[in-house]
Amino acid sequence: MSSTGSSAVQTPKTFQPRIFSGIQPSGGITLGNYLGALKRFVEKQNEGIETVYCMVDMHAITVWQDPEKLRYATREGAAAFIAAGLDPARSILFNQSQVSAHAELGWIFNCVARLGWMNRMTQFKDKAGKNAEAASLGLYAYPALMAADILAYHATMVPVGEDQKQHLELTRDIAIKFNHDYGIDYFPIVEPVIEGAATRVMSLRDGTKKMSKSDPSDQSRINLTDDADAIAAKIRKAKTDAEPLPETLAGLKDRPEARNLINIFAALSDKTPDAVVAEYAGAQFGTFKPALADLAVAKLSPITTEMSRLMKDPAEIDRILGQGADRAEAIARPIVDQVYDITGMIRSRR
Ligand code: AMP
Ligand code: TRP
Repeated sequence: MSSTGSSAVQTPKTFQPRIFSGIQPSGGITLGNYLGALKRFVEKQNEGIETVYCMVDMHAITVWQDPEKLRYATREGAAAFIAAGLDPARSILFNQSQVSAHAELGWIFNCVARLGWMNRMTQFKDKAGKNAEAASLGLYAYPALMAADILAYHATMVPVGEDQKQHLELTRDIAIKFNHDYGIDYFPIVEPVIEGAATRVMSLRDGTKKMSKSDPSDQSRINLTDDADAIAAKIRKAKTDAEPLPETLAGLKDRPEARNLINIFAALSDKTPDAVVAEYAGAQFGTFKPALADLAVAKLSPITTEMSRLMKDPAEIDRILGQGADRAEAIARPIVDQVYDITGMIRSRR
């Protein structure tokens, strides 16, 4: 293609399978992030698909972040990825702000997405709360930047937790509208990959609320930095009801806290929730909770230990992120350059 941006745009007709996903460094990594995202990211890497994973620091600042804490959380998130089994030689691991293609394509998508679409985003409503007037413009526009994160790589599959489903539908709408408006089959229509027993891990204090790094109560979540005693104590104190566990999953229908603990057990042990209920049918929480605590400690402690070892060498983490950013840039730059050509922007610099 000519560097002056002529109309000779090449259209990719088929898209090679590529996975993209991201995590915000807006706090520590929770068990929800681990089971809903990280653990599955590593599984995808091990299936041999090309995988691109990103600490989305530019998303994090849609809500004010202390700069030192943001840097720390970005490194800690990267350490969590690696400790959970991500191999930076096989997967691309980087932080978003080092690859400017994200912000550039994000702007283009701000001009593709419609206000009516953005107004339907439930995460904005949840995060902005009652005082939406005081929320940042970035928080409102955030799903368009998320679409850019994905589409700058022509990614075809996006593993996420259940809460991100609506943003992925928006990503599809943006791709469809861009393709339609410019009469070109340029962006793939991404597939959300929301699978497994723990697509929505709930708070340990309230089975109707998502486990979140921003919940004011630390008792509501397990952090990947919690030690064995803290994990066991949080599970022991987790809210439950007074009934024993039922014979089948259907018996957990109106018991969100019990259902959550079963799902966590299933995801940690790579079993189905059905199998876990069958195993503990009739058991009291006095039996089930210690078993879950042992399992959680056995699975999470090695990750926690490895994370703290990695965090002792921040320069090495930064080096990995920088190298990942170089590889990410090599994919995203030509894709976004082509978007400039498609949309009629002159590119005449050498
Ligand atoms: P975030 O921490 O909001 O950046 O989320 C990063 C990834 O973790 C996304 O794929 C989320 O869908 C996923 N995730 C976050 N919280 C949970 C949860 N409680 N249960 C399952 N997945 C989650
Ligand atoms: N919005 C996601 C979250 O809050 C994080 C994210 C940003 C993301 N860009 C992404 C996830 C691209 C998947 C793909 O959890």
